[in-house]
Amino acid sequence: MTLPFEPPARAAWFIRDRFGMFIHWGLYALGARHEWLMNREEIDPATYRKYFEHYDPDLYDPREWAETARRAGMRYAVITTKHHEGFCNWDSQLTDYKVTNTPYGKDVLQEWVTAFREAGLKIGFYYSLIDWHHPDFTIDVLHPLRNHPDALEMNKSRDMNRYRAYLHGQVRELLTNFGKIDLIWFDFSYPQRTYHGAPGKDHTDWDSENLLKMVRELQPEILVNNRLDLPFGAADFYTPEQYQPESWPTNQGQRVMWELCQTFSGSWGYYRDEQTWKSPDQLIKMLINTVACGGNLLMNVGPTAHGAFDKRATAALEVYGEWLKLHGRAIYNCTQSEFTPPPGCRYTQNGNRLYLHIFSWPFQEISLPGLAGKVEYAQFLNDASEIRMAAPHHITMAGEEAPSVEAGTLTLTLPVVKPDVQVPVIELFLKAHEQDTAQIDRILFMGQPDQ
Ligand code: GLC
Repeated sequence: MTLPFEPPARAAWFIRDRFGMFIHWGLYALGARHEWLMNREEIDPATYRKYFEHYDPDLYDPREWAETARRAGMRYAVITTKHHEGFCNWDSQLTDYKVTNTPYGKDVLQEWVTAFREAGLKIGFYYSLIDWHHPDFTIDVLHPLRNHPDALEMNKSRDMNRYRAYLHGQVRELLTNFGKIDLIWFDFSYPQRTYHGAPGKDHTDWDSENLLKMVRELQPEILVNNRLDLPFGAADFYTPEQYQPESWPTNQGQRVMWELCQTFSGSWGYYRDEQTWKSPDQLIKMLINTVACGGNLLMNVGPTAHGAFDKRATAALEVYGEWLKLHGRAIYNCTQSEFTPPPGCRYTQNGNRLYLHIFSWPFQEISLPGLAGKVEYAQFLNDASEIRMAAPHHITMAGEEAPSVEAGTLTLTLPVVKPDVQVPVIELFLKAHEQDTAQIDRILFMGQPDQ
């Protein structure tokens, strides 16, 4: 089944891998109450510095992180190099506000890149366009000093030209000093968010055109997200966040390459007291729903200020690992199917293998519209046991006629008891000759093929 969506060749790994780990880790891990705490609590940079002075993640072991990501079935990872707070995870030559000047003293990012690359994971850098620490970043509607009585006065001496040079210089460092980077994730533009009549920040503030040009020059194979406020076509992939698209996202009528980013519990940075952790059922369905609409899932972990994943995050990652170990074939290299699934189910597809994800377990049989005669073999993915295809036999004790089954529907016989996995999946091998038949149909409908 060809889809009218053609990703660039350099995105082949991205489409294949489907599932990645997002890592939000910075000084906000010490506050442990959302990575936006500086904004939410209007903390000025001088006060926020207490986190810088106490940053010492003594348990940080990026090899263990990489191993955990792999065990969870993740195949790439994106880490915050700098978040909105402005703190840099690497030994940048352009600022003192960096990890090597904290009590920890080592280049966290360098260690991370080495470990994740060694584990065979693709490497992505998140870089915040926003910077609440840099003295030239003008105070705007999101800035922690937005309500400061002298904010407008302070802006007079702030110079976005200087900040822009800093931003471009830092991105150059990131894309020069760490070898091949597979993906860059800029965050974010907000032109509509006005402040005292002035517009919010947009592509002119970042000089996005030239920034993107430099990125492509330094790393020609890299994939770039869509938050630079550039016209359609500039970005490689789109980034819906914290909601579940129910169909393949489009832009100007075209399907786009997309990656959904989600959290385990609501915030991105480590949040000690957050109680809204998603259930195993929600976690697995989120991944299936995403791939069923042709997208990737980037699932976030917010490590603690010790440099470790907390128990709840580790447990959530294990949920993915356990399910993907058996059902990976229904996720990696899969995309949206052109077949319509029955109610309470989703389809993903990889070539002639169609995967039926059963969200709501039915009684004894399930009917698949449009698939009669098209399936060569069917099996569960959890134990590779055969699923028999059957003519439906609805016999009633009173001898009424069985309701007729719609023509073209395939019926599968299921066990009464749902297999003991989060979401059971049936692998349907489509008959090879289905493709030939489709070819013939096309010829019949469209007249003679070209000579
Ligand atoms: C939002 C938030 C940010 C987070 C990002 C991840 O833009 O500003 O905290 O890093 O989403 O998608």
